[in-house]
Amino acid sequence: MSKLYKELADIYEAMYASFIDYDEEYNFYSKILKTHNKKSVLEIGSGTGNLSKLFQLNDWEYIGLDMSREMLEIARNKNPLCAFVEGDMRDFVLEHRIDSILITGRSISYLLSNEDVNSAFKSIHRNLKAGGIFCFDFIDANRFISEIIKVEKVVHKATLVDQKYMRESTWRLNMQHGMDLTWDSIYSKKVKNEYVEIGKDTAVVRPFTKNEIEIFLEINGFKILNIIDRKNYAFPTYVIVAEKQL
Ligand SMILES: C[S@@+](CC[C@H](N)C(=O)[O-])C[C@H]1O[C@@H](n2cnc3c(N)ncnc32)[C@H](O)[C@@H]1O
Repeated sequence: MSKLYKELADIYEAMYASFIDYDEEYNFYSKILKTHNKKSVLEIGSGTGNLSKLFQLNDWEYIGLDMSREMLEIARNKNPLCAFVEGDMRDFVLEHRIDSILITGRSISYLLSNEDVNSAFKSIHRNLKAGGIFCFDFIDANRFISEIIKVEKVVHKATLVDQKYMRESTWRLNMQHGMDLTWDSIYSKKVKNEYVEIGKDTAVVRPFTKNEIEIFLEINGFKILNIIDRKNYAFPTYVIVAEKQL
């Protein structure tokens, strides 16, 4: 797994809270789930628990699931009233089936093989109640790949409580078995007038085309209700709202 979610989890927590507007994320996703009359939600890839807090404060029956112990530890410390479980989205079983399952932050990018995607979608299907909603976002391969092959380096700057951070990313396209990307990133923070490196990470991520996602959902028993083109921080993103079929 990416170092960002293990030994660099504190850096994730500091930087992503300034990249992502979690109030806006909560409003966007909770509105979708409420439209379908859902009251309980499992958030897969709950990370450091920024959405958890908002679901709990708004009286949702909430469970967070993540495979990184380090991310879960931060999430639990911040949200002592929330339920969290350590688990892998490719193979998990909840005690009770749930109304809805949510994956945000393009966390399905870490499902690299077709087998990974099928296993995760099967697990999600199994843990949803009849008519349950599966809502998730993914990086749009068409737009993203054509963008990043034109640039050498992508720089993101962020400020959190007066501390300035920077992430410099480079991307390599791998086409041996499909299309994924090796993502090298260097994280720095500003000390006096210059940025000082605080961590480095290499991860492999998979962007998807809309057609691929449509096929994966169809063969795993989901009907797509809506596809939302959502320009989100940094990457071209689609959000899928799908319903469990029998
Ligand atoms: C990009 S972060 C998103 C975190 C959070 N949703 C947010 O928006 O801040 C991805 C998260 O997915 C988790 N993750 C990656 N692969 C996973 C898997 N197979 N099963 C469960 N969690 C996974 C990582 O540990 C990490 O916390």
